[in-house]
Amino acid sequence: MDGNGRWAQARGKPRLFGHQAGGRRVREIVESCPELGVKYLTVFAFSTENWKRTQAEVAGLMTLFKRYIVKEATALRDHGVRVRFIGDRVRLEPKLVALMDNLEALTAGNDDLHLTIAINYGGRDEVARATRRLALDVKAGRLDPETVDAETLARYLDTFVLPDPDLVIRTSGEARISNFLLWQSAYSEYEFVDTLWPDFTKEIFAEILENYSKRERRFGAVTG
Ligand code: IPE
Ligand code: MG
Repeated sequence: MDGNGRWAQARGKPRLFGHQAGGRRVREIVESCPELGVKYLTVFAFSTENWKRTQAEVAGLMTLFKRYIVKEATALRDHGVRVRFIGDRVRLEPKLVALMDNLEALTAGNDDLHLTIAINYGGRDEVARATRRLALDVKAGRLDPETVDAETLARYLDTFVLPDPDLVIRTSGEARISNFLLWQSAYSEYEFVDTLWPDFTKEIFAEILENYSKRERRFGAVTG
């Protein structure tokens, strides 16, 4: 979800104004998933690198995350959305972590849409944390190092219960992945769109999915 800051700047408003508008888009896109046949949606809300922003912006974003969870919890539960959070929670404030835990518990019985929100998430950080836990299991004698393969490591990732993404969309015209689902997107299709996130409508989303459905995916094999 990129481009909130530029969207606000173009209107002569503070960056947080753009983040607020971006938050409203999340709701619209989440709501459009059932009709568009999307069962898993992962949104990148805050990266392990976003701490480098000003203290005011970081604090504003954390407040927005808390507000979003409080405001949307009931609707998410009632609409069959199962919410999960990925990323390192250690650096997040306890109040936010408590809200995240509560929302996960509140929606744990849902299965219509699996919404994953990445907060303090970085692909490299995730692999490093997974490796640390894997190494501790080896050290404790719970895991034979000779048996470790890609599937073993994947079980230690934050995403261990989720399927790999079929499609990764980045908004705002930047053609880079910035540490998002590095391991999981090995065979994902990518779509880079110029639209800034606060302008990303469900119509644009539907069009991207339509184009995606026409792509041929070979996963390294040869077809035809
Ligand atoms: C994305 O919008 C939202 C977050 C990373 C939290 P940006 O804040 O990156 O917006 P630009 O890139 O400055 O326009
Ligand atoms: Mg950006």
